Amino acid sequence: MYKDVLIQGDSLEILPKLPDNIFHSCVTDPPYGIGFMKDWDKTGIAFDVDFWREVYRVMRPGAYLVSFASPRSYHRLGCAIEEAGFFIKHQLMWLYGSTFPKGLNVGKSLQRTLGKDHPVTKKFDGYKTQIRNLHEPIVLAMKPIDQKTITANTITWETGAMNIEKCKYGDRTPPSVLIDQNVAVSMGGKSAYYPQFDTEAWMYCPKPTIEQKDEGLSDLPKEMWMQDTDPAGCDLSKGKLRAGFTSLRMNSHPTVKPVPVIKWLVELITPRFGFVLDPFGGSGTTAQACIESGRVFCVVEKEEKNYNIAAQKIDWWNNKFPVFEMYD
Ligand SMILES: C[S@@+](CC[C@H](N)C(=O)[O-])C[C@H]1O[C@@H](n2cnc3c(N)ncnc32)[C@H](O)[C@@H]1O
Repeated sequence: MYKDVLIQGDSLEILPKLPDNIFHSCVTDPPYGIGFMKDWDKTGIAFDVDFWREVYRVMRPGAYLVSFASPRSYHRLGCAIEEAGFFIKHQLMWLYGSTFPKGLNVGKSLQRTLGKDHPVTKKFDGYKTQIRNLHEPIVLAMKPIDQKTITANTITWETGAMNIEKCKYGDRTPPSVLIDQNVAVSMGGKSAYYPQFDTEAWMYCPKPTIEQKDEGLSDLPKEMWMQDTDPAGCDLSKGKLRAGFTSLRMNSHPTVKPVPVIKWLVELITPRFGFVLDPFGGSGTTAQACIESGRVFCVVEKEEKNYNIAAQKIDWWNNKFPVFEMYD
């Protein structure tokens, strides 16, 4: 009934062309609206109630929405989603341990401005403007059901319930907290590469390595890339943290999410063969997660460069996970 689609375009223009009530879920990672590196992060679309009303319209009654957010702008995103008609069901939290504060060193700045012996410089020695961010909140929301009960809604629309048994972590109900390799290590895992982390209390979701981000992109040129830390090279058990390193990458997208995290979310909120919307496709992570988990995707990405990365990734993923292997 549905087929995979990757669309290059602006979701503000594409969504109004789609029919009502078609998607079983929406899994997305919008621009956080904090001006992070790129112009697309400054438009404020994630806080636009009218945009989320369109997402609401195209989703089935009872369908779930997960959206990543920044700690700085989560409140605005959550309010916009709620105002559009969704019911805020929960908040997930992805904890990680590998970022560096980017704020101003006010102490150093005062030294340059007033001189190191000035009383104001002395008073504010060591003052800076940022703390270290170690988490990313995720909104879990639901379009209200239009039937009398969740059971009736599931019969009519196939939506309203979550795939709890399949998405159990170990033996336990899916948790609201996800952790990366650095947090796992600090909680008792033995190495950042192979954390023998045996608690089932949290979902283990490492950040993607450069190799994972580049997987399937052999046709693209490599670009110099700068990031805070190398997630795979960050082994807290050895006190090793590679800060501010540069690398050559083919996937030049600055905010690539790990496929396993998105796959887990897709499976949690979408029935098998269900139709998943991602209006902010980036390098195509949601599409890859859908291919891997036997869901159908509609992914929209505005920028040509990202669209091309996503298109190559989708081709490669389709070869890696042929359809017949996904029927269990
Ligand atoms: C945070 S990134 C998503 C990254 C993605 N999760 C990944 O793993 O690659 C947000 C993406 O939304 C795209 N975008 C921003 N505004 C858009 C719009 N109005 N319509 C479609 N895409 C948009 C940006 O170009 C960017 O690639």
